[in-house]
Order: sequence, then C-alpha cells, then structure tokens
Amino acid sequence: MTLSHGRPYLAIPGPSVMPDRVLAAMQRPAPNIYTGALHEMTETLFPDLRRVAGTAHHAAIYISNGHGVWEAALLNLLARGDRVLALVTGHFGRTFAATARALGAEVELIESDGAGPVDPARLEDRLRSDPGHEIRAVIACHVDTASTARADMAAYRAAIDACGHPAVLVADCIASMGCDRFEMDAMGVDVAITASQKGLMTPPGLGFLFFNECAAEARKRADMVTPYWDWTPRATPDLYYQYFAGTAPTHHLYALRAALDLIVEEGLENVWQRHARLAEAIWAAVAQWGREGEMRLGVRAAGDRSHAVTSIHLGAPDADRLRAWCEAETGVTFGIGLGRTPPEGWFRIGHMGHVNAHMVLGALGVIEAGLAALAIPHASGGVTAAARTLATA
Ligand SMILES: Cc1ncc(COP(=O)(O)O)c(C=O)c1O
Repeated sequence: MTLSHGRPYLAIPGPSVMPDRVLAAMQRPAPNIYTGALHEMTETLFPDLRRVAGTAHHAAIYISNGHGVWEAALLNLLARGDRVLALVTGHFGRTFAATARALGAEVELIESDGAGPVDPARLEDRLRSDPGHEIRAVIACHVDTASTARADMAAYRAAIDACGHPAVLVADCIASMGCDRFEMDAMGVDVAITASQKGLMTPPGLGFLFFNECAAEARKRADMVTPYWDWTPRATPDLYYQYFAGTAPTHHLYALRAALDLIVEEGLENVWQRHARLAEAIWAAVAQWGREGEMRLGVRAAGDRSHAVTSIHLGAPDADRLRAWCEAETGVTFGIGLGRTPPEGWFRIGHMGHVNAHMVLGALGVIEAGLAALAIPHASGGVTAAARTLATA
C-alpha cells in the first residue's frame, strides 16, 4: 500500500505544474500556419510577453529550451574572442559561462560562495580595471536555480554605470520570470532570456529573448550568429514564418496564450506577491525543522532568496532518502541537489508558476511526514510555522 495514488505533484523547479487551461488549450487540430487565427493569436503574445519581462523593447521567441536561448543571446552579442564577465552564483551561471567559452569567447568568472549573489562591488572593481573596455558583456542568472540565490540586477547595472563601462548586461531569468519581481527596463538589463517551462507554466520547448537598443547596437558587430539564431528577423519579421525561422510551434503557442491569460487575469504584481508569500512559508518551515538536526536553507539572507525555488541542505544520504520517500509514499516529487558538494546532501522545492497555498502546505506536510517516517533528526512544528506565516503575512 502507498498513499501516493491520486493527483501527483511535481514540485521540482521546472517543468512546473501545468494549469488545466494550458493543457486544454493544446487539445485542438493542427491549425493553418499560413494565415488566419494562428497569426492573429501570435500577435497577441508579444505585448503580454513584454509586460511580463518589464520591457518596451524587442521580444523574440525561439523553439528551444533554456540552453538554446543562452546561445541565442551570446551569438547575437559577441564576436569571436570577445571578453565576457560571468557573475556566477551556482551551477547554471557556471554552465552559461561555459557556453560562452565554447562559442569562442574569452570568459572570466566572478563567483559567489553559492549562499548569496556576487557582490556588485566586485563587478565594479573588475570593470574599473578594464579601461580599454575589452569586456563586452556581463552575464548573470537573476535566479540560479541550483543555488536558488537571487541577484540584484539593478545593483549590477549601477556598478556598470558607476564606472561608465559600455558592457551589455545579460540576465538569465529562466527560473525567475513570472515568479520573482523582474523589470528589465527599470533594472537596466539589456538582454533578458527565459523559457516556457517554469513561471510561464507552458510545456518545455519555447525560449524567449528580450533585447533593447544597446543590445541591438552590439548585434551589429556580432560575427558568429547563424540565420536560425539571429534575433533581428524574429523580433521584426516581414513575414510570419520569420517569427520562428520556419514552422511555428503551433500548440506551444496556444498553451502560452492560455498561460499568459492566467498571469494577466491575476495581475503580475499579485503573481509576484503570491510567490513571495509562499516562499516565506517554506523558509519558515525549514527554519523551524532546522532547530534540531542538519536542515538549513541554502541561501543565507532572505533578501537574496528566490521566490520560485528553494535549495535545502539536509545532509547525505538523508536528502535523497527523503525525496525518494516523498515520491513513493505521497506522490510529491522534489528536485535534486545541483551544483552543491555533495549534491546528495541537498534537495530543492520548486514553487514556481501554478502553485497556491494548499499545494505548498501539502508539500511541507509531506516533508514533515517523511522526516518522521525516516527518523531524520528535526524539530517538530515546521508546517505550523508555515501556516502561521500564511495566516499573518
Ligand atoms: C537559471 C537557468 N538557466 C538555464 C537553464 C537551462 O534551461 P533548460 O534546461 O531549459 O535548457 C535552467 C534550467 O533549469 C535554469 O534554471
């Protein structure tokens, strides 16, 4: 006997839970891709995507995952041998940097300890020692989904501006967009990228890239970009097929339309606040459980923690034992530890997108049951602490 039968809950940091309306939107025959309703619907996506990204500038959609839009951003910005400064807070920032290196850039890393973001003062110091402006781009994860640290993109912009450096600022918002407050133009980000499968609640397979006029200027000297990855025809197409450099991802687009409708109906501010409050409930539970035993949050300061995903240390092998128990016995799947040493000592809770209070409280209740069932040392009362947070916040 297992208590897992019923609706499963995938509480990993993407792909996230897909709303029924998103799933239903894909239940349709293949549409005409040459003219008509699909074209009209596609046009409606761009204003809403821009609104979610907080930009009045250009938007491009790729048929790709996050790795694809990493390449899209870099290829449109860089010439071979260009210098890139990567601000790294975890596994994904490191892999983004490795992608730039593989494409032919000279990449330099400034790394945090993974328990918080890179200090903007370190960025400013490095840029001040680059009077020749060899560094062309500063790349950073807004939220690194592995460490779950959130960077202050506006502070990075201020650091760049403080030394009058012309490097473009590129933000990976794959984990954060539609979850953590992000306002591309107000934060001074030149290029923002994201993907469909997290805060945007759509199946994996779409990548999104937003770029401003500074980035469009940098594009002019890029010498590695191929027709498929070129953002210019995608953002300013003469013909419909140029939006996607070929056949449109028809059913993904209908799914995206439904997901954006949900965000517009709730209101982006409310979406961000919902994520913030649910995240606080999770932190409260972990803080309470951690009064005894090894459990603790991966990111030190509350202000540096993502509202979309939380990394939790429990020690090896208990983190893996707990994840396995929760999945087998209760139907809730949590994320694996990533980029930590050892990864088996960590797990992550994804709380991004279509997630509400009863789902988070349920997931926390399942963890509390697992801790007890497996006799993992912890203080009781985590779920109560979370419930109190939701009651009073
Ligand atoms: C912050 C971040 N960047 C990049 C990626 C890579 O995206 P994908 O797995 O869709 O290629 C991920 C995936 O989780 C991510 O969280």
